[in-house]
Amino acid sequence: MLHDRDRIFTNIYGFQDPGLKAAMKRGSWDGTKQLLEMGRDWIIDEMKASGLRGRGGAGFPTGLKWSFMPKVSDGRPHYLVVNADESEPGTAKDREIMRNDPQHLIEGCLIASFAMGANACYIYIRGEFVREREALQAAVDEAYAANLIGPKNVHGYPFDLYVHHGAGAYICGEETALLESLEGKKGMPRLKPPFPAAMGLYGAPTTVNNVESIAVAPTILRRGAAWFAGIGKPNNTGTKLFTISGHVERPCNVEEEMGIDFRELVERHCGGIRGGWDNLLAVIPGGSSVPLLPASQCQELSMDFDTLRNLKSGLGTAAVIVMDKSTDVIQAIARLAHFYKHESCGQCTPCREGTGWMWRVLTRMVRGEAQKREIDLLLDVTYQIEGHTICALGDAAAWPVQGLIRHFRPEIEKRIDEFTARSKEDVFLPTAAE
Ligand SMILES: Cc1cc2nc3c(=O)[nH]c(=O)nc-3n(C[C@H](O)[C@H](O)[C@H](O)COP(=O)(O)O)c2cc1C
Ligand code: SF4
Repeated sequence: MLHDRDRIFTNIYGFQDPGLKAAMKRGSWDGTKQLLEMGRDWIIDEMKASGLRGRGGAGFPTGLKWSFMPKVSDGRPHYLVVNADESEPGTAKDREIMRNDPQHLIEGCLIASFAMGANACYIYIRGEFVREREALQAAVDEAYAANLIGPKNVHGYPFDLYVHHGAGAYICGEETALLESLEGKKGMPRLKPPFPAAMGLYGAPTTVNNVESIAVAPTILRRGAAWFAGIGKPNNTGTKLFTISGHVERPCNVEEEMGIDFRELVERHCGGIRGGWDNLLAVIPGGSSVPLLPASQCQELSMDFDTLRNLKSGLGTAAVIVMDKSTDVIQAIARLAHFYKHESCGQCTPCREGTGWMWRVLTRMVRGEAQKREIDLLLDVTYQIEGHTICALGDAAAWPVQGLIRHFRPEIEKRIDEFTARSKEDVFLPTAAE
């Protein structure tokens, strides 16, 4: 369990004033100049030593990512782009940072940009986040007015920060689609390579990081890499914002130790499972893109990247979606399949066609109106999508379906049996593919 003294986000619930003066009293902007004076290499080495893994979903080591940026400019500017799209269903943490603790993020933008030789940073914020954008812009304006950022700021490193509002599309959270959108084009993912560190925004070296990854950086550097690395587990270090939703008594956001036990997380912060632990059916541990886990695997479950990956799921964005036994699990996954079908940008055939195909089959399976051999067919289609697309939305669409079949195949079969028994004729007429 995380001690209060180790909490980075001390105003995540907005109980205190989010303004600059109050944020400075809570520790923001303390000794920032001294941190910059330690130099770019020191900052990147500390970030590496802290073990911080990206909080946007993939868990890629942040310090290592920063080190991919060219050390010396070839004439092109360098950019930091902060991903504030936060559209992964179940995820609701970055919006609270921007609303209630924005100076962590703004200070992080300056430090990270300095470490990567960027004099400009863009925060790309989700289209639906109108109030969050207003709050963040007000915080940026305050930082400019206090000369903490800007062309001639007190830190001696010229730095401009822009807040850019998206139009509201899940795919614009994918980093290269985000860059396209930021450039004023349609938000469609780019083929990689080249990776953004070589050719990103406007063809220049760019790093894209999640809001939380950047917002924790100043505290890590102030308190030291060893402090952060001492929290959590090896290779899964530090504090982490969890968003717990669904069938718990009190859904919430909470900053906790990486690797906290699922049961402790839910008991301590959410008042337990609705109807008690025997009523737990399944958990999606990291946002809608990761495969669900059945209750039997959630009894002693360490909430960290490696443990969840070994269980063929993932920590993702640490958006924990709890489902009790009142849930129609096939319907739940069919609903997610509809989301991915709707959000596919349509560039790749497996994703464009496969997401709609999976949704239509699952919709029939909800009613039991299917044949048992279609379960393996559906699974096979998920494997044809996974890894065969330009971006990871294809994987994100395939994995929840794989999780459903892996853990709830008997439930799908039961539904088919019941439907067949109800039908007058024992003959199933499949619906023609659209
Ligand atoms: C379809 C899709 C949507 C994504 N949405 C987000 C998002 O809303 N926020 C985010 O930080 N990362 C999102 N990502 C991950 C980003 O592409 C990228 O990996 C991340 O911003 C990197 O930040 P990090 O290294 O700090 O984790 C998404 C990825 C995909 C494939
Ligand atoms: S995987 Fe889907 S969302 Fe990603 S580029 Fe291909 S079609 Fe677009």
